[in-house]
Amino acid sequence: MENVLEVKGLKTYFKFDEGIVRAVDGVDFHIKPQQTLGIVGESGCGKSVTAQSIMRLLPRTAGITDGEILFQNPIGPGQSEIVDLAKIDEESRTMLDIRGGKIAMIFQEPMTALSPVHSIGAQLSEAILLHQALSKREARNLGIEMLSKVGIPRAEERFDDFSYQLSGGLRQRAMIAIALCNRPVLLIADEPTTALDVTIQAQILRLIKELQAEYAMSVMIITHDLGVIAKMANEVAVMYRGRVVEFADVDTIFHNPKHPYTRALLRSIPKVDTPRGERLLSIRGTVPEPFAQVPGCPFHPRCDLAIDGLCNVGDPPALEEIQLNHKVACVLETQDGITKEGIADVNAVH
Ligand SMILES: Nc1ncnc2c1ncn2[C@@H]1O[C@H](COP(=O)(O)OP(=O)(O)OP(=O)(O)O)[C@@H](O)[C@H]1O
Ligand SMILES: [Mg+2]
Repeated sequence: MENVLEVKGLKTYFKFDEGIVRAVDGVDFHIKPQQTLGIVGESGCGKSVTAQSIMRLLPRTAGITDGEILFQNPIGPGQSEIVDLAKIDEESRTMLDIRGGKIAMIFQEPMTALSPVHSIGAQLSEAILLHQALSKREARNLGIEMLSKVGIPRAEERFDDFSYQLSGGLRQRAMIAIALCNRPVLLIADEPTTALDVTIQAQILRLIKELQAEYAMSVMIITHDLGVIAKMANEVAVMYRGRVVEFADVDTIFHNPKHPYTRALLRSIPKVDTPRGERLLSIRGTVPEPFAQVPGCPFHPRCDLAIDGLCNVGDPPALEEIQLNHKVACVLETQDGITKEGIADVNAVH
């Protein structure tokens, strides 16, 4: 396997008395060594649940019901084994070693991810000692080194601070230090800069990029912000209603998008030259409520190109390769004899 991670047909469902929420409903993507995959999509499309499935940190009401999460797990110099994280026991030795050691995660809100009752240093030391055979003193020294590496001034003094004593930007840096202290091969960043102001956001993204190069890490960055995708990603997975609807390298996503949902997302970005006072375009309609089952393509109720009898019936369209490393889940792109130009004489849905 040449990729660090390959997710295939992943399904993660929540079970409630009222019904089933198909939060992740057949997700496919891969992450290449030392590259960044961006995952983008509107709120509720399953981005965080996908990340929680990889880390095996799902709420108790959720379970992985199908699919594979193949991880290239490094087990020694030049040696690795493939582990299916979808099937492994979440409390097994291997998973404890991977979670926080080989794969680390940072979150949108460091205030909730960091403990309020332990110092930053105590949390750093704990993370280090869990994965590395070091003495307490060595762990402390490594912790201080990590804090200065992520750009926290006077790291030695800050080591004993509590998270509430740090500004938002410094807290996010501290969380990155904790995530990277065991030199993971994959960093999952779930909306890492959404809570920060624009200047700090740019600094944190730059820091992640610098450390990625230094540590030769892969990064999976989750965001609803296409600006972040443009800055960070090599490849992009566009998610809608628990599925990947388009996958390609970042240039293709921005310059040659094929899925009507990707195109709509791109049209909704504010442009520098948008006249003041002009309303921003937003995508028509909203994501259907989570319990609703939509036949056919999950995007068809909001799609201007949807064809009655084709897009609103049957199974959701499969993610198919239309060009090398460009995959789309839209029958208008993948089914022979149907083109967007050729639908004028066919009844459009709605
Ligand atoms: N703890 C939970 N209990 C019940 N349902 C949940 C839970 N977490 C997520 N879901 C449901 O799973 C679906 C996917 O949620 P998820 O958090 O992955 O979305 P997201 O893409 O990360 O959205 P956002 O951009 O708002 O973070 C949603 O329909 C959500 O309601
Ligand atoms: Mg989320």
